[in-house]
Amino acid sequence: MSSNDITSVLKEDRSFPPPSAFQQRALIGSMEEYDRLWTYAAEQPERFWAEQATTCLNWFKRWDRVLDWQLPHAKWFTGGKLNVSYNCLDRHLLTWRRNKAAIIWEGEPGDRRVLTYNDLHHEVCRAANMLKKQGIGSGDRVTIYMPLVPELAISMLACARIGAVHNVVFGGFSSEAIADRNRDSQARLIITADGGWRRGAIVPLKANVDAAMAKSPSVERVIVLKRTGWEVPMQAGRDLWWHDEMATVSANCQAEELDSEHPLFLLYTSGSTGKPKGILHTTAGYLLHATLTSQVVLDLKDDDTYWCTADVGWITGHSYVVYGPLANGATTVMYEGAPNFPDWGRLWEIIERNKVSVFYTAPTAIRACAREGSKWPKQRDLTSLRLLGSVGEPINPEAWMWYRDTIGGGRCPIIDTWWQTETGGMMITPLPGAMATVPGSATRPFFGVVPDIIDASGNSVPRGKGGFLVIRQPWPGMLRTIWGDDERYKTQYWSQAPGVYFTGDGARQDAAGNYWILGRIDDVINVAGHRLSTMEVESALVSHPSVAEAAVVGAPHELKGEGLHAFVLLEGSHRPSDSLMRDLMDHVVRQIGALARPESVRFAQALPKTRSGKIMRRLLRDIAAGRASVGDTTSLEDFSVLATLRANEDV
Ligand code: WT7
Repeated sequence: MSSNDITSVLKEDRSFPPPSAFQQRALIGSMEEYDRLWTYAAEQPERFWAEQATTCLNWFKRWDRVLDWQLPHAKWFTGGKLNVSYNCLDRHLLTWRRNKAAIIWEGEPGDRRVLTYNDLHHEVCRAANMLKKQGIGSGDRVTIYMPLVPELAISMLACARIGAVHNVVFGGFSSEAIADRNRDSQARLIITADGGWRRGAIVPLKANVDAAMAKSPSVERVIVLKRTGWEVPMQAGRDLWWHDEMATVSANCQAEELDSEHPLFLLYTSGSTGKPKGILHTTAGYLLHATLTSQVVLDLKDDDTYWCTADVGWITGHSYVVYGPLANGATTVMYEGAPNFPDWGRLWEIIERNKVSVFYTAPTAIRACAREGSKWPKQRDLTSLRLLGSVGEPINPEAWMWYRDTIGGGRCPIIDTWWQTETGGMMITPLPGAMATVPGSATRPFFGVVPDIIDASGNSVPRGKGGFLVIRQPWPGMLRTIWGDDERYKTQYWSQAPGVYFTGDGARQDAAGNYWILGRIDDVINVAGHRLSTMEVESALVSHPSVAEAAVVGAPHELKGEGLHAFVLLEGSHRPSDSLMRDLMDHVVRQIGALARPESVRFAQALPKTRSGKIMRRLLRDIAAGRASVGDTTSLEDFSVLATLRANEDV
C-alpha cells in the first residue's frame, strides 16, 4: 500500500428513484425500511441472520450457535444440519412448484430444453447415485469441466446432495489449468463432455481433460457427457459415458444431512500474480447469502423468468445461475454459447422469446453490445424486462445509461452489484425497490455487510475521499480459507489492516452515503503524487462519442512518477487520426483536469481480456512501458490481441 489515498475524480449528478410500481411489489420498498434493517443487522448480526436462516432455509437440525468468530476464521450455524440440494429441489416438490420450470436452457445451435423442479430432482438423484457408484462420497473433490448445459447444474447439485466438494473449472480454460486445479484439490473424479458449442465451433473439452490427465495423478475416473456427438477416444477402465452410467442407477437418493460448515465447493480465482487460489465456500452460510440476496436484490418472484448470462465456471454462475435462484424456486435461464452467435441479436432474441423479466450481465457484455449499436436490441420486444443487473467490474455511467435506455426502455432499475468470488454473494448493491440508483455507483451495503474505506494507516477516510475498501464484520457467505493454504488466506485478506477483511479494491463514499468502486488497487496510478483510479479515466474516455471502450495504464514518467497511457476502441464509424487523438486527450482534461492528460492514446482493435471479461492491464502496462510481457498469460482470452497491439505501436 502506498502512503497516499486515492484521488477520486468522477462526478455524477444523475439519480433515478425506484419506479413506484416496482416499489410496491418489492420486499424492501423504502429507504427507511432498508436503513432500519441494515442497522439492525449491523448491530445484532446473530439475531438478524438467525431469523433469515429460519425463513430462507430448511434444516434437518437447527443450529446450536449462529456465529463462532475467531478472527479470521468464521463458522456459521454450528451444530446445524442441512443439505443444499434439498433446499434447491426437494422442498419445492412439496409445493405447486414441482411442475414449475426450474431451468430453461438453450444451446448455441438453437436446441432447447426445459427442466421442471421435478425433472431436475430426478436427474440430480440419479447423478448423485452415479457418483456414489464410482465410490465418491462426503468430502471427496470432483472437478467439473463442462459446457453450459443443464448437466453442469445437475452435477453440482449431485455433489452437494452427497457432500462431495465440486470444483467447477471454466470450459474456456486449458488443460494446464485443469491439471493445476486437479492437483491442488486432489480431485478423484472429473465430469466433462465430448465438447461444447462456442461461436459455431466445438470446444474440445474431453481432449483437454485427456491432456490434463497425465498431470492429474489423483483422478481415477472421467465421466463424459455426450453433448456434440463429436467422436472422442474413451480410455477403458477410466472413462465412462454419462448416459450409460445414468441408465444403471436409481432415481432415489436421500439428501445427506450435512454440517453447516461442510465444504460445498472450491472455485479457483487468479490474482494478478501468483498461482490460482482455491476459494473454499461451505454449506449453510453460503446458501443463506445466495438465497437472501436473490430474494431481496434480484427481487425474484414466482412469475419471473430470470436470466444471468454468467458462465457457471465463475462465482456469479454458482450463486446467481444455480444456487440462489433454485433455492428460491425461481425459473433460471441458461444459454450455452456466445452472445454474438450467430449475430449480435442473440441475447435480445432470447429475452424476447422467453419473456425474461430479470436480466443480470456484465459491463463488458453491455459495452460490447453498445458498440455494435442499438439496432440489434431495437429489433426485439424487450418490454418483459423489469430489472437489470450488472456485475464483474465497475460499470461506467455511459454504459449504464445505454443499458437503462436501450435495454431497459428507461423503465427498469439497474442494480450494480459489487462482490467477489471470496464474498460468495452480493455485498454492495442497490435494493431496487428501496433506493435511488446512480449511474456508476454500487450504492449501499447489503444487510450484515459493514464496509469501510481506510487509508494506508488503517484509519477511516472522510466521505468523498478515496481509499481501500474493507469489510469490518464477518458475513455468512464469506470464504472460509484458501484450500490447502490457510497462511495465504491470512496474509492475503486479513493482514493489510488488522482485524478487517481487505478487498483489494479502492472505493469512495459520497456525501449521500453511496459507495463508488474505483477498481483494483493494483490498477491505481500515481501521477505527480495523485493516486488516480484507471477506471475513472477510462470512464471519462468512454464518455467521448467516438469511444466504445478504453483501458488506461500507468508507465514510468521522469517527472510525474507515472504517466497515463490510454488504449481505446472506437465506435463503429470513427477512424483513428492524430486530431482525434488530441481531441481525446483534451476531453480527459475537460472531464477530469490537466493532471489526468494521457501521455499517449493508442487506437486498438481489441483489448487483452481474461475470459471473464476483465481487462488484463498488466499486459498493457508492459506495452506502454515498451517491455516484453513476463508472467502468466494463460487466462488471456485471445492471444492475437497482444501481438496486434504491439504491432500498432506507432498508430
Ligand atoms: C472483483 C471480483 C463478483 C462476481 C464476479 C467477479 C470487481 C465486481 C463489481 C462492481 C466494480 C466490481 C472488483 C472485485 N467487481 N463487481 N459491481 N463494480 N467492480 O468476481 O472475479 O472474484 O472479481 O471484480 O474489482 O474485487 P471476481
